[in-house]
Amino acid sequence: MRIKAAVLGATGLVGQRFVSLLANHPWFDLVALTASEKRVGRSYGEVVEWVIGEDVPDAVKDLQVLPNDLKVLRREGVEVAFSALPSSVAWGVEESLLKGGITVVSNASPMRLEPDIPLLNPEVNVSHLEVLEKQKRRGWSGRLVKVPNCSTAILTLALKPLIDVYRVRRVAVTTMQAISGAGLRGVPGYMIGCNVIPFIKGEEEKLTAESAKILGFVDKDSIRPSEVRVSASCTRVPVLDGHLESVFVDLDESVNPSEVVKVLKSFRGEIAGWGLPTAPENPVVVRGEEWRPQPRLDVMAGEGMSVVVGRVRVDEGDRLLKFFVLGHNTLRGAAGSGVLIGEAMVKKGLL
Ligand SMILES: NC(=O)c1ccc[n+]([C@@H]2O[C@H](COP(=O)([O-])OP(=O)(O)OC[C@H]3O[C@@H](n4cnc5c(N)ncnc54)[C@H](OP(=O)(O)O)[C@@H]3O)[C@@H](O)[C@H]2O)c1
Repeated sequence: MRIKAAVLGATGLVGQRFVSLLANHPWFDLVALTASEKRVGRSYGEVVEWVIGEDVPDAVKDLQVLPNDLKVLRREGVEVAFSALPSSVAWGVEESLLKGGITVVSNASPMRLEPDIPLLNPEVNVSHLEVLEKQKRRGWSGRLVKVPNCSTAILTLALKPLIDVYRVRRVAVTTMQAISGAGLRGVPGYMIGCNVIPFIKGEEEKLTAESAKILGFVDKDSIRPSEVRVSASCTRVPVLDGHLESVFVDLDESVNPSEVVKVLKSFRGEIAGWGLPTAPENPVVVRGEEWRPQPRLDVMAGEGMSVVVGRVRVDEGDRLLKFFVLGHNTLRGAAGSGVLIGEAMVKKGLL
C-alpha cells in the first residue's frame, strides 16, 4: 500500500523539488501541500511560482494549499511529512506533527545535532536510523529524521569512501555555493550578479558539526562523532544550482591519486542493493578531465543525486589529497536526500 505524504513549504525551492520527486512516486502518495498563510485555500498550480523546469505535475496542480496544521494533515491521512519550511518556523510545526503521530523528514536545521535524531545521508550512515528507538522517550508517536545541510551532504558523500580506507586526520574545505541555496527569494540580484560573497551565516559551523555527526558511529544507543575534523570557508557565487567544494584531506599515510579514484568510483555505500527508487547507481562519479566538475555541465549527474569529483591530486609527500566535489544543493543536498531517507525508512519498516 502507498504511504500518504505531505510536503511542508511546497512552494519554495526545496518544496518544489520534493513535489517533483513525489508527485508520481511508486511508494508515496502525495496528498497534501502546505505553504504560508497567504496561499492557503488556493490551488497549488495557481499559487506556486514553479521555477525548476518543465511544468507543475498534473497530479498535484489542483491540490488545495493547506495550512501547517496537525488536524488538517491528519484529516488527509498524512503518515509522513517532508518538511521544507524555513528554520525559523519549522520546529514549532514539526514538533506538533510528531506528537500527533506523523513522521517528519526535515530539511530545516533545528534539532539536527540532537543525539537521538538521525542526521542522515543514506549511503553514508543509514545505520544511524538505529537511534530512532531512543526518540520514544520524548513522548512522540511520529519519528523525526533530519536531512543534513546541503554542503555537508555533498562533502560527506565524497569523504566517506576515503575515511573507510585511509587514515584521515583532518579536512579543509572551501565551498562555492549556488544562489538557490538561499531559497527562492534569498540573495538579491544586485549583491550576487558578477560577484562572490565570502560569507554565509552559520554555514561553516554546520559543515564542522554536522560532518562529525554524519561520519560518526552508533555507540550504545547514541551517535559518537567522528574524530576527523572538518574546517570550512563558505562563499556564495553566481551559479543557479550546484555547490562546488575545494577539498584538502590531510592524511596519516601516503596515497596514490589513481588508487583514490578507484576507491571513490567503487563506493556504493550502506544502501547498496536496497532497491530504493531515488538512489543513484553511482553515488560518487569521478571525472578525469582537468576542467570538470562544473556546475553547468555536471550538476544533474545521477539525476542530481550523485556527487561529481574531479581534479584528484596529491601534495606534500603524497599525504595531502586535494580534489573538487560538486553536488546539486536542492536534490542531493535537500529534497532528493529527503525522499531517499523516506524510501530507506519504508525499506526498514519504519514507515
Ligand atoms: N535551498 C537549498 O539549497 C537548501 C538546502 C538544504 C536545506 N535547505 C533548507 O530547506 C528549507 C527550505 O528552503 P528553501 O530554499 O526551499 O526556502 P524557500 O524557497 O524560501 O521556501 C520556503 C517555504 O516555506 C514557506 N514559508 C515561509 N514562511 C513561512 C511561514 N511563516 N509559515 C509557513 N510557511 C512558510 C514558503 O511559503 P510561501 O511561498 O507561501 O512563502 C515556502 O513554501 C529551509 O529550512 C532551508 O534552510 C535549503
